[in-house]
Amino acid sequence: MILKQSTETLLFKPNNFKEIYDDLHELHQLYASHTSISAGNMDDTDLLLPSGKAISPTGAAHCLLEIQRTAVFIRGIHKAILKLKQSFPDQQLHILYAGCGPYATLVTPFTTLFSPEEIRFHLLDINEHSIAASKKLYEALNIEDYVAEWICADATQYKFPTEQAIHLVISETMLNALRKEPQVEIMLNLIPQMQEKAIFIPDNITVSAQLLNKRQENDRLTQFDLVPERINLGNVYSIGRANCKIHEQVCIQIPQEVLKEHSLQLLTEITTFEEERLGIYQSSLNMPVAIANAQEYAGRKINFDYHMGEVPGFKYSWLP
Ligand SMILES: C[S@@+](CC[C@H](N)C(=O)[O-])C[C@H]1O[C@@H](n2cnc3c(N)ncnc32)[C@H](O)[C@@H]1O
Repeated sequence: MILKQSTETLLFKPNNFKEIYDDLHELHQLYASHTSISAGNMDDTDLLLPSGKAISPTGAAHCLLEIQRTAVFIRGIHKAILKLKQSFPDQQLHILYAGCGPYATLVTPFTTLFSPEEIRFHLLDINEHSIAASKKLYEALNIEDYVAEWICADATQYKFPTEQAIHLVISETMLNALRKEPQVEIMLNLIPQMQEKAIFIPDNITVSAQLLNKRQENDRLTQFDLVPERINLGNVYSIGRANCKIHEQVCIQIPQEVLKEHSLQLLTEITTFEEERLGIYQSSLNMPVAIANAQEYAGRKINFDYHMGEVPGFKYSWLP
């Protein structure tokens, strides 16, 4: 069956991109056929929350087909489950998935590897249509035994159940440079509620300010051995299980000597777990965000502040 086959391809053939691509498209057909939610449709609307945008069920379905994103998250989650089995031997592991979307994409594959006695899901989403779709999918695939509860709630406000320990929390509710979606506010709410040995995925998200040489970045598309020179000017935010804090203003200085091709950009690196990482260009979550032409601001300083709220993201101002 394609669910088992794609899980094995994702986990054990990490460099076989063609097979991963084919399997995830076949898996999408299976999920779409049971839920009537298909990645290509885009006929529903996003929810605009006080904490940012919650993308629609079809938008969330589309995330499955962000091949490298899905692969790196699933490989990280697999490693985390194996680690938790050591930390909590013989215990059933409870996994809270905040923003599960219509397919519970990042946990459903594990129903082919572990039994319901080993892992149990708490599937949470703010969108009732996504919750209804994931219920339909689990019933159709006859895997409802894996689900402890479906929860329609806002993950920026949600409080953990008092009667049940949570061992693993997963949330991928982000865009590049932590724009627009509520990932940061969700992390700030959920991580402090976690017990000591519990794991949050992604383990870390770091946004850095870098000078990219636009000509070299273009040339690398045709010259595969070209490694573009990127000048890291410093981190503007790093948030994860080990450093879950509200952002504090960061000042970055542009060097005096810059080329006309240099562009100041924000780069996003995501560590899902251990060595499972997503870096520049590997998914839409890692596309650089351009801030300014560096030469116009040579020698100047720029302050970055992260704002939460309806449109999360970095605001910046140049110092005189
Ligand atoms: C980017 S999609 C990811 C879908 C799926 N988890 C995946 O990784 O393929 C984000 C999901 O998070 C949900 N979401 C966004 N903000 C939320 C919030 N504040 N509380 C609960 N769910 C939220 C959206 O409704 C959407 O289903």
